[in-house]
Amino acid sequence: MKKHYDTAVIGGGIIGCAISYELAKTQQKVVLLEAGEVGRKTTSAAAGMLGAHAECENRDAFFDFAMHSQRLYEPAGQELEEACGIDIRRHNGGMLKLAYTEEDIACLRKMDDLPSVTWLSAEDALEKEPYASKDILGASFIKDDVHVEPYYVCKAYAKGARRYGADIYEHTQVTSVKRMNGEYCITTSGGDVYADKVAVASGVWSGRFFSQLGLGQPFFPVKGECLSVWNDDTPLTKTLYHDHCYVVPRKSGRLVIGATMKHGDWSDTPDIGGIEAVIGKAKTMLPAIEHMKIDRFWAGLRPGTRDGKPFIGRHPEDSGIIFAAGHFRNGILLAPATAEMVRDMILERQIKQEWEEAFRIDRKEAVHI
Ligand code: GLY
Repeated sequence: MKKHYDTAVIGGGIIGCAISYELAKTQQKVVLLEAGEVGRKTTSAAAGMLGAHAECENRDAFFDFAMHSQRLYEPAGQELEEACGIDIRRHNGGMLKLAYTEEDIACLRKMDDLPSVTWLSAEDALEKEPYASKDILGASFIKDDVHVEPYYVCKAYAKGARRYGADIYEHTQVTSVKRMNGEYCITTSGGDVYADKVAVASGVWSGRFFSQLGLGQPFFPVKGECLSVWNDDTPLTKTLYHDHCYVVPRKSGRLVIGATMKHGDWSDTPDIGGIEAVIGKAKTMLPAIEHMKIDRFWAGLRPGTRDGKPFIGRHPEDSGIIFAAGHFRNGILLAPATAEMVRDMILERQIKQEWEEAFRIDRKEAVHI
């Protein structure tokens, strides 16, 4: 029998699962197609920081979108727990962004006027986190840059989507998407499925679909290597962050430590140099990690774009195809807002114009150098 859906979502990471959930909730008939297993690639490699303040350097549409997504996590966590019984393991300690130089201080103090941010002297910061490095000159305490556990968020979205009637096919590789008689034929390793709309949310692997669908937007992996350690004796309640590296305290008692930024590296195996660099950096933030027991190492491939911002928008010449990919360092943070935006595009609802412009597929910053 021919399988026909309102929307086919390609990619079962956190973005694809969140989109499927939001659409299924509106009674759309949704199919999600994942080449491997849901949430097992880039999503499960992420630390899960909801770092809207930590990761955004300018007060632009991207920051506004990131803040909106950060706020959506609060009700989303409750809703997902009620809908499917999965706790997304939100950890509410916030973040200390550490300053070691006058330059760091100048940069961090640009955030002083934001409601969630408080500048702390070194003494006050060390009172909050006594095991942080004594070399700091101060820190920004960011109350709202909390963290969640990405694999649990993704599984919760997937389970919730199923509960609302979505079909999820794992181990199902999409090989092509073609427009045929007013619908799309999606050819997969498990046979053809048909849909009125297609959402491409395959992270760094979305580049293949961009080129197949006639677009040349460059995508590249930015490999991040991480490790986790068991923290038995060193109380730490807040994420420590400096220069894109972080020590994130999990509810399990582990610390997640990351991450390198290796542009163009497609291997998802960490190497010694990468792990050594991450450990070296973490020791400058939390010297006590030197004595902690190693849990495991891993690496993930962030989906890089030329301007570091995602593509969330319609194919410029085919409005039935919507892309939601290229979230670089912020896939976990941006998942709820991305899903909301894609849902609204598919249902032809009003979208905030600044966001539509900022993430459009053919913006010149992402296409040309
Ligand atoms: N969001 C943190 C990272 O990409 O390493």
